[in-house]
Amino acid sequence: MTLYLSAQHVQKSYNGTVALQDVSLELGQGEILALLGPNGAGKTTFIKILATVLMKDRGQVQIFGYDLDQHAETIRHLFGYVGQDTERSAYARLTVVENLHFFGALRGLTKTQIRQQIEKLATYFDFHANLGKQFVHLSGGQKQTVVIMRALLHDPPLVYLDEPTKGLDPIIAKKIRTFLKKFVVEEDKSLLLTSHVLSEVDELADRVALMHRGTIPISGTSAELKAAVGATEFVEIEKDSLPPTTVEKILQLEPVICSLERSPRWLSFGVVDLMGGAEAVIRTLRQDKVQTGFRHHTVSLEDAFVHHIGELEERFDT
Ligand SMILES: Nc1ncnc2c1ncn2[C@@H]1O[C@H](COP(=O)(O)OP(=O)(O)OP(=O)(O)O)[C@@H](O)[C@H]1O
Ligand SMILES: [Mg+2]
Repeated sequence: MTLYLSAQHVQKSYNGTVALQDVSLELGQGEILALLGPNGAGKTTFIKILATVLMKDRGQVQIFGYDLDQHAETIRHLFGYVGQDTERSAYARLTVVENLHFFGALRGLTKTQIRQQIEKLATYFDFHANLGKQFVHLSGGQKQTVVIMRALLHDPPLVYLDEPTKGLDPIIAKKIRTFLKKFVVEEDKSLLLTSHVLSEVDELADRVALMHRGTIPISGTSAELKAAVGATEFVEIEKDSLPPTTVEKILQLEPVICSLERSPRWLSFGVVDLMGGAEAVIRTLRQDKVQTGFRHHTVSLEDAFVHHIGELEERFDT
């Protein structure tokens, strides 16, 4: 696989606050890589550095073999970037087509190139009906689509999207995801995205890099991150109805290998074998005469995220 992007030991501080401690990451041709991590982990800072919006303090970045420090101008033609500020990424009173022509011209594209690209993108994003509307009159999801189209106007091989579906309703978010995936795969683009919606990441990304306090301690496919949890299933019990002594007993059970607090209402117990695990947990609940809500699910990327970040935090605290 051809390497499109290689970042090695990138460091960045804001007035003494370390945002990136030591970040290394590689992205290959046609690959979709998701950068995950808690708030403040450094995802936006890293993407802004790659997008030449922000200067790094230390480290090397090569994009298509060009060094980021020496060839920023060349590199700017090779990527498209969508940051977090959708509202200010287009002119409110201009129509979608006018906006795209304006930003395309800024990029040095000819009218014909812009027209062709708008046509292609409008087809991918099913957007023909909105092209004549003023930006200010679009919905949040439509505005975000315009901003993504703007970033793709010069047909860059590399695309950075910082939380592309933030604040969108699940149906619109899903629609944008579907369009994006189709576009990226059919046009053979490489995509680096951040998102807090882990089901979205699971659906889109070929590989996941987990960012934690300005480093990337864990990366792999979504399946690898899930497998590293050790459990295959989570048995969940309603927390309010569960005495601490019963929790202790459940944790001692042989099939139960870990526990997670993923939501305020439920306590999740990781088991390797659902039948055996559920049976043992239910037996304990019966013994203790606990009446409670019970459910189970296969280990998700969200479980993996909570598990790995929890372990990293524990290591950090000790
Ligand atoms: N302009 C800035 N000035 C000072 N500190 C900043 C600035 N931008 C970010 N930081 C700090 O750098 C760290 C990383 O922030 P960053 O925005 O990169 O995190 P993130 O992973 O994108 O978080 P989120 O998931 O909330 O978007 C945080 O501690 C943040 O407070
Ligand atoms: Mg961010």
